[in-house]
Amino acid sequence: MGPKKAGYVPALGWDSLTPLYDPLVRLTTRERSFKSRLLDEAAIGEASRILDVGCGTGTLLLSARHRAPSLLAIGLDGDMNILDIARSKARRQVEEITLVQAFCFDIPFADGAFDRVLSSLMLHHLTRSEKVRTLKEIFRVLRPGGELHVADWGRPHNLLMRALVFSVQLGDSFARTVDNVKGRLPTLFRDAGFEDVSETARFATLFGTLSLYRARKPPTAAARRHAGSFSAHSLTGV
Ligand SMILES: C[S@@+](CC[C@H](N)C(=O)[O-])C[C@H]1O[C@@H](n2cnc3c(N)ncnc32)[C@H](O)[C@@H]1O
Repeated sequence: MGPKKAGYVPALGWDSLTPLYDPLVRLTTRERSFKSRLLDEAAIGEASRILDVGCGTGTLLLSARHRAPSLLAIGLDGDMNILDIARSKARRQVEEITLVQAFCFDIPFADGAFDRVLSSLMLHHLTRSEKVRTLKEIFRVLRPGGELHVADWGRPHNLLMRALVFSVQLGDSFARTVDNVKGRLPTLFRDAGFEDVSETARFATLFGTLSLYRARKPPTAAARRHAGSFSAHSLTGV
């Protein structure tokens, strides 16, 4: 891993490698398939406000906007250099996204501001305590009933994947990646207060198993009561 900047680790560890990020990820991670699946699972067409935490070059955010043109799509990243790349891509694709330079463990938005929070290939950059702080922040900025959708390195699903993820661990440090590789992200989501947590898909890639996860912030008690009375009413009408 390259030098840790104040508050974040650059996408490929070193600033000088950031311009290579898009082609490298496209060639090695089945990017198109896993990001498309993530957006399907997030039912992005039903959301009106989304936040992509660690948005990098903006590929996921731009696809989301492309699918749902009225979406308020905000990307947050600690690295100004990579946000410049995202900004140029948005200009070329004539898509309106908002990009904010900030750290994932100190998200500059109000409680309940988003319907969905997405995060792709970001959590493995964080230490355990940074992951815990970040998940707490994500929980806070989601509205009750809102959903978190994550794509990141997961527990290897065979020996080949176990061998391949070793290169990620060498590059990004064992301390930051161990929770991913041990399959502990779902537990960290639950500890942050999320419910209905599941691993929804696994992709075999050149850097090991890439897992998709979903998790939901519990709805308020009032929303639960309303859903309960609605289904009771529907049943009596059958
Ligand atoms: C591997 S890149 C993933 C980019 C993009 N989400 C994708 O799927 O291609 C990880 C991103 O997380 C950002 N990042 C790392 N630590 C961060 C932090 N503490 N706060 C905000 N962003 C961070 C990096 O700057 C980088 O853009």
